[in-house]
Formats: sequence, C-alpha cells, structure tokens
Amino acid sequence: MSGHEELTTRRLSLKRPVKGDIDAVLAIHGDPAACAHNPSDALATRAEAEERYGHWDALWRRRGYGYWTVREHDAPAVLGFCGVKPMTLAGLPVLNLVYRLAPASWGRGLAGEAATAVAAWARAAEPGLSLIARIRPANLASQRVALRAGLRRAEHLDEGGCDGLDWIHHRPAER
Ligand SMILES: CC(C)(COP(=O)(O)OP(=O)(O)OC[C@H]1O[C@@H](n2cnc3c(N)ncnc32)[C@H](O)[C@@H]1OP(=O)(O)O)[C@@H](O)C(=O)NCCC(=O)NCCS
Repeated sequence: MSGHEELTTRRLSLKRPVKGDIDAVLAIHGDPAACAHNPSDALATRAEAEERYGHWDALWRRRGYGYWTVREHDAPAVLGFCGVKPMTLAGLPVLNLVYRLAPASWGRGLAGEAATAVAAWARAAEPGLSLIARIRPANLASQRVALRAGLRRAEHLDEGGCDGLDWIHHRPAER
C-alpha cells in the first residue's frame, strides 16, 4: 500500500484502478464524446483497454500513484478517471493532471471536485513538482476544470501534443 490508494471528497471516492475497472476504461475511452478533443486517447477494443490499464498499473507500481477511478460514495458505477502522470515539460519534470468522465456525469461539478482533490494530493505528496494540464484550445470545459483545481494559464509553455497544440495550464512547484 502506498497510502495514496484512496482519496475522498464530499461526493466522490477515488481509488487505485483494479482489473475489474477495465470494462469502464473501455466504455469511457470508447465513447467518442469523451475523447472528442483527444482522439489519440480513444480505445476501440477490450485488448486496448487491458493494455491501457496495464500502463496505469505499472505507473502505480513504479511511483506509488497514478490515475484514480472516480465513483460517487456508495455507488458502484465508475464515473471516470482522474490522476497524474509524471512527464517532462520544457526540460523539467512535472506531473500532468488528467481527468475524463463519462458524458452522463458531466455538468455537476464532479470533475472539478476530483481534480481539486488530486491537485491537493499532488501538492502534499510531490511539492517539488509543478502540476500541469495539457488542454486543447477548444476544450473549454477542461480549461474551467484546470482553473478550478488551482492551475493557471501559462502561454509560454504551450507546445504540440498528440492531437495538436496543447494550451498549458500550470501550478508551480513549492520548492
Ligand atoms: C472536461 C470534463 C472532465 C469536465 O467534466 P464535468 O464534470 O462536466 O466538469 P465540471 O462540472 O466540474 O466543470 C465544468 C466547467 O466547465 C464549464 N463548461 C462545461 N461545458 C462547457 C462548454 N462547452 N463551454 C464552456 N464551459 C463549459 C462548466 O460550466 C464548468 O464551469 P465552472 O467550473 O466555472 O462551473 C468532461 O467534459 C470530460 O470528461 N471531457 C472529456 C475528457 C476531456 O476532455 N478531458 C480533459 C482532457 S485535457
């Protein structure tokens, strides 16, 4: 146990993904609306979902954290996923904040709630790392979520990503 395997918010429970979540990985990443701005994240088959889960689990084993599965308290349905992935931006190590929820749960402030919890966790667990979000210019909802989680727009860090230009949102490291 890393001690980071469960985060709790007012409405949400965030847990380390398990193999039983693979169907939800496929359902959410197989929904065109959920990947409209990031088609490179889309999944089409169960095998691809198993591979994606394998990458997530490998990150958990390597770093003791990664992406969490998001549910409402006492509800079995997976709403989506939210977490961080270590990467390099402008030559510096950072944590990339990620969130993706099933469209049926959009518009209730849930992504903002999950992302805020993950950002707070990142501040406590990895204070030496900046937190970023790479967001396509037309993805206004995602930009709102990043702002809600305490990141700010950082035009000077913008760079190309897998699906085109990413607008970088950023929260500096503490030290
Ligand atoms: C981005 C996403 C996680 C937002 O989920 P959500 O639960 O609806 O988000 P919230 O309800 O917490 O907040 C959404 C905010 O965006 C705003 N918003 C939603 N749709 C919008 C739109 N089309 N244009 C402008 N603002 C919009 C909401 O009003 C809200 O703003 P607020 O924080 O000022 O109240 C969800 O749309 C999603 O999973 N999208 C697909 C995956 C994705 O794009 N992930 C980000 C990749 S960078």
